[in-house]
Amino acid sequence: MTTPQIHPSILSADFARLGEELQKIPTADAVHVDVMDNHFVPNLTIGLPVVQAIRRATNLGIDIHLMIEDPDRWAPTYAEAGAESVTFHAEASAAPIRLAQQLRATGARASMALKPATPIEPYLDMLGELDMLLLMTVEPGFSGQAFLEMVLPKIRRARQAISAAELPVALQVDGGINAETIERAAAAGADTFVAGSAVYGAEDASEAIDQLRTLAARGHRCPQTPTRSTAS
Ligand code: DX5
Ligand code: ZN
Repeated sequence: MTTPQIHPSILSADFARLGEELQKIPTADAVHVDVMDNHFVPNLTIGLPVVQAIRRATNLGIDIHLMIEDPDRWAPTYAEAGAESVTFHAEASAAPIRLAQQLRATGARASMALKPATPIEPYLDMLGELDMLLLMTVEPGFSGQAFLEMVLPKIRRARQAISAAELPVALQVDGGINAETIERAAAAGADTFVAGSAVYGAEDASEAIDQLRTLAARGHRCPQTPTRSTAS
């Protein structure tokens, strides 16, 4: 498991001032860009031209999260636009293994996402085709939703499978990650954390990133952390 990676999501940034918003997160490990098409999820965000503009505006790695139908057709174009990593949803892909191989062939990292109710087990045999697995901890579509505790056992099962196979697959979580939840997600085995409102809703985005990283590292040191907070 790598040291905790913090990927702020620009979905919670001010889209009218994207350049400045990117400058607020110099210590991020990458910037997470949510692409939604109003079909796979009930929200419409940004597409390729904006991703190309982001590529020009920052030196940070770009972590694309495609919440779109037919990623088999569109995902490679995001890799060609200079994204370091492209995540497609398993629920939307007709041929996830072929798509992962195509993404890797462009030089990008191939990543696959699962919605909270999608089980990991049918996909365990294809972990070797992936550089990252994203387990959604909210139903995809919007920032600011509450972390779904029910995903924690799936995070543990995924971590177990990745460790058992000795694969260098990053395990990302996305949705409701904040100072209250990140430690539990880390203790369950996640190593890459998307945070939208927890970073862009904070007074000081850099400070929020540092705090999240520290809490995640604490979770990694205490893998026995209870799955539910006892705080009321
Ligand atoms: C939701 C997106 C997330 C979103 C997370 O579907 O995939 O990346 O920006 O926002 P928070 O961290 O506020 O839940
Ligand atoms: Zn996302």
